[in-house]
Amino acid sequence: MCGISGVVSFHPIGDRLYEGVRHLEYRGYDSCGVAYVQNHHIEVRKDVGTVDEVQSKANIRQLLAAVGIAHTRWATHGKVTKANAHPHLSCKADFAVVHNGIIANYKALRATLSKAGHTFCSETDTEIIAHLIEHTYAECGDVEVAFVEALTALEGSYALAMISVHDAERIFCARHESPLIIGVGSETNYVGSDFNAFIDYTKNTVILDDGEYGIVSKDSYSVKNLHSGEVVDKSITVVPWDSELSRKGGYPHYMLKEIHEQPLAVRNALNIGDDEIGALADMILEARRVHLLGVGTTYYVALLGQYLMAAVADMDLPAVSSDEFRHLDKSDGESLVIAISQSGETYDTLMSLRHAKERGAKTAAIVNVLGSSMARLVDRVILQGSGPEVCVVSTKAALTQMILLARIAIEVGTRRGSLSADLQREYTAALTALPGDIDNLLNEKSGLIRAAAYRHAHVPNWLFLGRGIYYPIALEAALKMKEVTYIHAEGMPGGFLKHGTLSLVDDKLYTLVFVPPGNGELHGMTMSSVEEVKARGGFVFGIAFEGVDDIFDERLVLPVTSDFTAPFLPLVAAQLLAYFTATALKRNVDKPRSLAKSVTVA
Ligand code: AGP
Repeated sequence: MCGISGVVSFHPIGDRLYEGVRHLEYRGYDSCGVAYVQNHHIEVRKDVGTVDEVQSKANIRQLLAAVGIAHTRWATHGKVTKANAHPHLSCKADFAVVHNGIIANYKALRATLSKAGHTFCSETDTEIIAHLIEHTYAECGDVEVAFVEALTALEGSYALAMISVHDAERIFCARHESPLIIGVGSETNYVGSDFNAFIDYTKNTVILDDGEYGIVSKDSYSVKNLHSGEVVDKSITVVPWDSELSRKGGYPHYMLKEIHEQPLAVRNALNIGDDEIGALADMILEARRVHLLGVGTTYYVALLGQYLMAAVADMDLPAVSSDEFRHLDKSDGESLVIAISQSGETYDTLMSLRHAKERGAKTAAIVNVLGSSMARLVDRVILQGSGPEVCVVSTKAALTQMILLARIAIEVGTRRGSLSADLQREYTAALTALPGDIDNLLNEKSGLIRAAAYRHAHVPNWLFLGRGIYYPIALEAALKMKEVTYIHAEGMPGGFLKHGTLSLVDDKLYTLVFVPPGNGELHGMTMSSVEEVKARGGFVFGIAFEGVDDIFDERLVLPVTSDFTAPFLPLVAAQLLAYFTATALKRNVDKPRSLAKSVTVA
């Protein structure tokens, strides 16, 4: 949610500031701006629009300044206007601030500052921070003291960066419940809301913790505790990602690139050490109660994990959507809460972990981003190793999380004795073969799926049906379709249909059915859902496996590999269907409207 970039250097910063904020656009992109110090003044260039649109008007790249901050916005407080775009200035334009997060007490602070004579140019919560620092500076005459005092008055969440004419060669930055990191380069240092702000230039980072602030100059940096003022000895974390991995590499969109990276991402997940999987399995077996948490896609991943744990390990690990978890949380010292999150920063999931921790629960997480808030909060973390996922729409990260849950289920099932040695070998072999199966699907079926997507791009309403473990697959596939195409798609268990939604079915409603392979019970029950829809004149598109009776209006046939890994293949097909439908409709694939990659607000 919003991106922050800051650069301080011996050299002109324009290019790096622009590139930094451009690579953060996936976090928000309704307006953008920069502030920099030049000739003892702070200049601001900002406007509504994407980074490139603002660049074409404001020419950020040509800046000759040596210190500057930039921001790309995803509106929370205040409409999308030039005035509300960051950076925000104090009255005298002595201080400029960019901010991610929400200042909960901004109305009270704004009222107090107004009474003291401050005037405001925007509707944002952020602007009060610049005024507050200026107000405090007028009393103490020290930028660092003013910065710290202002921060201690803030309630809510923030990652922020500030520059001042009174300390013109340094960037001040801080975090509280919203990520902020420092990039340590050569003759240039950086500030960013994530690695993408500077990964082209340095992989060496210092990750701020809550309650810390940083002071960054062109050849040094320091981190201090906000409350004690003491210097904190922070180690350098080397980002394991290559900048090339974060770029499109010839694909028209990150989404397609990331779908195609899934075989590699799955291989990486399979290469994670048995000891790491085993340690989490131990925690699960030691706990009296275990919950799986996620939100949006990761809730569906958690739900799939619940099905896997039930089938493979004979255990019930309820999945809960993390935005609701606090209302249900009864965890205690014998509980374990496992969070699933690509970013490791999602507010709802992070707050749920904190809530459970406060109640004494043990916590664990599967996350993709090294050094993220969740990775550092929990008792045990598994870094999923999917590489950077830039498209707002999660594909490879979600599939990788599912594979890790499958590994954990196998491990727990084996230890509990609910999974035989033969099945353990069979499932493990199926997982090993899965990257190749996905490769084949991508190579052999993409053309068919694209043609189907273009044929049906006009359909305004879809039902996505699945039963058993294909139910979370249907939910996740429907979410993909909704978020990237803006077409209504409702995921539902096949059996649920007849309890109400069936009344919607007529010849205009299209239904996508995820049909399991074989002739077992799940297959039979799914086919009855197909019959129910067909009997009401509904159009049924089946994603099915070889050997299935062709009772569909249209179908995509996938080769049968293993029952255990079969559900992952239709998910990949559905990702492609959503992607190609979005391109047929000329949607903003990598940055769908109103969405941001990492949702760090309540
Ligand atoms: C995924 O396509 C969505 N954009 C969204 O639902 C996402 O999965 C959710 O916000 C959770 O994000 P996280 O994995 O970073 O925690």
